[in-house]
Amino acid sequence: PVLVVDFGAQYAQLIARRVREANVYSEIVPHTVTASEIAAKHPSGIVLSGGPSSVYEEGAPRLDEAIFDLGVPVLGICYGFQVMATALGGEVAKTGQREYGSTAVRISDSGVLLDGQPAEQTAWMSHGDSVSRAPEGFEVLASTDGTPVAAFANDERRLYGVQWHPEVKHSTYGQAVLENFLHRAAGIPADWNSGNVIADQVAAIQAQVGSGRVICALSGGVDSAVAAALVHKAVGDQLVCVFVDHGLLRKDEARQVEEDYVAATGVRLVTVNAQEQFLNALAGVSDPETKRKIIGREFIRVFEKAQADLIAEAASEGDPIRFLVQGTLYPDVVESGGGTGTANIKSHHNVGGLPEDLQFELVEPLRTLFKDEVRAIGRELGLPEAIVSRQPFPGPGLGIRIVGEVTQERLDLLRDADAIVRAELTAAGLDQEIWQCPVVLLADVRSVGVQGDGRTYGHPIVLRPVSSEDAMTADWTRLPYDLLAKISNRITNEVDGVNRVVLDVTSKPPGTIEWE
Ligand code: XMP
Repeated sequence: PVLVVDFGAQYAQLIARRVREANVYSEIVPHTVTASEIAAKHPSGIVLSGGPSSVYEEGAPRLDEAIFDLGVPVLGICYGFQVMATALGGEVAKTGQREYGSTAVRISDSGVLLDGQPAEQTAWMSHGDSVSRAPEGFEVLASTDGTPVAAFANDERRLYGVQWHPEVKHSTYGQAVLENFLHRAAGIPADWNSGNVIADQVAAIQAQVGSGRVICALSGGVDSAVAAALVHKAVGDQLVCVFVDHGLLRKDEARQVEEDYVAATGVRLVTVNAQEQFLNALAGVSDPETKRKIIGREFIRVFEKAQADLIAEAASEGDPIRFLVQGTLYPDVVESGGGTGTANIKSHHNVGGLPEDLQFELVEPLRTLFKDEVRAIGRELGLPEAIVSRQPFPGPGLGIRIVGEVTQERLDLLRDADAIVRAELTAAGLDQEIWQCPVVLLADVRSVGVQGDGRTYGHPIVLRPVSSEDAMTADWTRLPYDLLAKISNRITNEVDGVNRVVLDVTSKPPGTIEWE
């Protein structure tokens, strides 16, 4: 693999994704990694990420300098570039001059790293200190108004660095810098793709599971759908999937799982219809946290019951279920410490929060993958597009998109409004631009309207379109007015009980994406 050394603040994840976009497998390691730990992974290249610190700060993250003597090609980016300069005998100066944002870069000597690029280009910068002198044996390749040494190279030792951030899209030739480093300087072939991932994972699952039986909970979301499809491809009917229909799904989602997904994959599916159980448990409850707790509790009850039934059935056949599939993704693994000894940033429910007396061995075929890669694999496996390209949808479903008590009537109304919004966003070709668009029913609010000759007293529907990279922060999406008008017209005309459509224009923070 190519190892991306993480100096903090999530820069490393973006770099790891860009490396993979160049069809090279990458993994993230913490900056505390030692040279011998790195050597043990036999990397074909190393990328040092940027980070929020200054190399002069007390406690600034360091690197085991023996890493530069391993003979492995290294590319330093931003903070990683400065760490490299310092370690190899160059000089980093506190200029007091900050470069931030799009910056003009002048290339004086392209070398292999910047080959094929225009001599003047714009790149994204974010730094205070600057490399003032390159280490001995290094050629200076580029400069900016504020930085005499903005890129350097030592071809003989295959060590390279850039002050700018090639991983962000604002750096026009950024991806080309990474690809020159990977394919030309380090000589790594571009042969990592979804076809190979599927083949590798299928082999790994077969090796882990053998002839054992496996269970998987399908949520209707893309992660569990792709994980189950991979496991099914590997071990066929040794896998049983359980799908709990809690009645809080959007229009057509249950059918997509029960019919389209099963038809596309051939998985054995047990559906538990628990709609009444959830509605009864939610009766009379308006408080968001209480609703979340009830839905979580009922979900576990239903799933454990279904699981116990299947386990009993399997045991009676003398062949117990030993494995549980989880759709854990790489960002969850990295953020939970990833077994590499990094600080536990947050304990993710799929990784850190598992019960200790877990009786299953976990099968996690997506553990090394990013979301966009999971989607690509889903497509390659022939899963329905409606599932593969599905927006994130919260576990508690529409239960937390009805402000007020959850009732069957309100769920049906919200489902209709939500279906209209989704159809219009898709028709307008905006699915890629939008991260997700919760549609919220303000069931506790009523407003006066007029329809035909009559006065109405109905409920408002809120549209919450957001753009985001990772849901940690988000901005409200500026949808075209014509589209908003069309959605508003359709909802107020087609959905009984709704006489007003409003738009949420709050970023996150301060607002969360969901309303509850
Ligand atoms: P918030 O509302 O916290 O949402 O800004 C961030 C992202 O998380 C999703 N979300 C959930 N997902 N279970 C989930 O699986 C939940 O309880 C839950 N609550 C929020 C939300 O849709 C958004 O993508």
